[in-house]
Parts: sequence; C-alpha cells; structure tokens
Amino acid sequence: MIKLRKFNLSDLEILYNLFINDKVLKNLLISFKAKEITLKMEKDWLRKVEKEYKSKKPESYHLAITLNNKLIGSIGANHIDYNNNSVEIGYWLGEEFWGNGSGTESIKKFCEELNRQFSFKRIEAYPFTHNKASARVLEKTGFKCEGIKRKAYKKRDKYMDSWMYSKIY
Ligand SMILES: CC(C)(COP(=O)(O)OP(=O)(O)OC[C@H]1O[C@@H](n2cnc3c(N)ncnc32)[C@H](O)[C@@H]1OP(=O)(O)O)[C@@H](O)C(=O)NCCC(=O)NCCS
Repeated sequence: MIKLRKFNLSDLEILYNLFINDKVLKNLLISFKAKEITLKMEKDWLRKVEKEYKSKKPESYHLAITLNNKLIGSIGANHIDYNNNSVEIGYWLGEEFWGNGSGTESIKKFCEELNRQFSFKRIEAYPFTHNKASARVLEKTGFKCEGIKRKAYKKRDKYMDSWMYSKIY
C-alpha cells in the first residue's frame, strides 16, 4: 500500500541509493549525472526539506513515498505561489518500483494532501516530452494537457521541451 509521509534524516541512505540512477535523473530538472551526486548533497537536501516542514508558509513541500512502509521515492511541491494559489509538483520512484501503479497512487494522494494543507486552485506538472510514463500518470490522475513549453529547461547543454499539465480545483 502506498503512503506518503514526511522525510527524516534516517531516510538518507535508502533515498540516495534509489536516486543515483541516470534513468531516474534524465527525467528530472536537475542536470547532475548519478556519479556527480554525493551523499552530502542528498543530506543537505533532506535538511532543507525538514526545515521547510517547520514553516507556516513553506516555499516547497516534499514527502517520502512508501510502499508497505518501505521508502521507494519522493514527491514534492516546488515554487508554491501563495498569491495565485498554484503550485508545481515533481516526483520520482526508484527504478525497481516503476510500472506497478505506485506513481499514479502517489500523485493522487499528494494532490489530496496538498489540498488539505494549502487549498490550491491549480496544481501544475511539466514532464519532458520524452517522458511518456509521467504524462500518462498525470492523465490518469485528472491532469489536463495545456500544450508544450518549448525549450523551457536547460539540462546540461540541451534545451528541453516539456508538456504543460494542470489540475484545477
Ligand atoms: C514517472 C513515474 C513516477 C511513473 O510511476 P509508475 O509507478 O511507473 O507509473 P504507473 O505504473 O502508475 O503508470 C505508468 C503508466 O504509464 C504507461 N507507460 C509507461 N511507459 C510508457 C511509455 N514508454 N509509453 C507510453 N506509456 C507508458 C504505463 O503503461 C502506465 O499506464 P497504464 O496504467 O494506462 O497502462 C516513474 O516511472 C518514475 O519515477 N520515472 C523516473 C522519474 C520521472 O520520470 N519522474 C517524473 C518527472 S516529471
């Protein structure tokens, strides 16, 4: 069963080992290759995530994805826009956990949680156009495609196109 919970520092090693995979990273906004990501970078990220939990108006909000209480990935809200009540989400699962419905279930649960906590009008996601699985999970969870953001993200030396998806409440 998929559950979302807050991260804590004891997640560090499992999270790191799931994350340092180029097949995961090629779909995310960061430009690092797996071999460039250190345990310290991941620890700093977790510390920042924990700090944001204490804020009444966090800039971002990330949760651990667990399957039968085992950490399998991460889902989060970036760029929380309190003026317009909108937010962008991002997510990933360790490769061994792909293709079993966990991504779909996690997005559903995260949108519910975001609305319990923050009452957003609009939730956005921007999968790269090569990322068919991500576009599909968004469609399965009620997101609508609004078009393509062309060459909107620079990943290393390449400009990437992204689908623009949103869900309105
Ligand atoms: C994207 C991701 C979260 C999806 O999670 P998941 O648990 O594998 O997804 P689900 O099993 O819930 O659903 C996947 C859907 O995509 C479809 N799919 C997978 N690969 C596909 C492909 N190459 N072309 C078309 N559809 C594809 C599956 O058939 C399934 O749809 P269906 O239920 O209608 O058959 C996961 O693959 C992942 O973590 N990828 C790496 C990181 C990433 O891409 N993050 C998103 C950044 S925007």
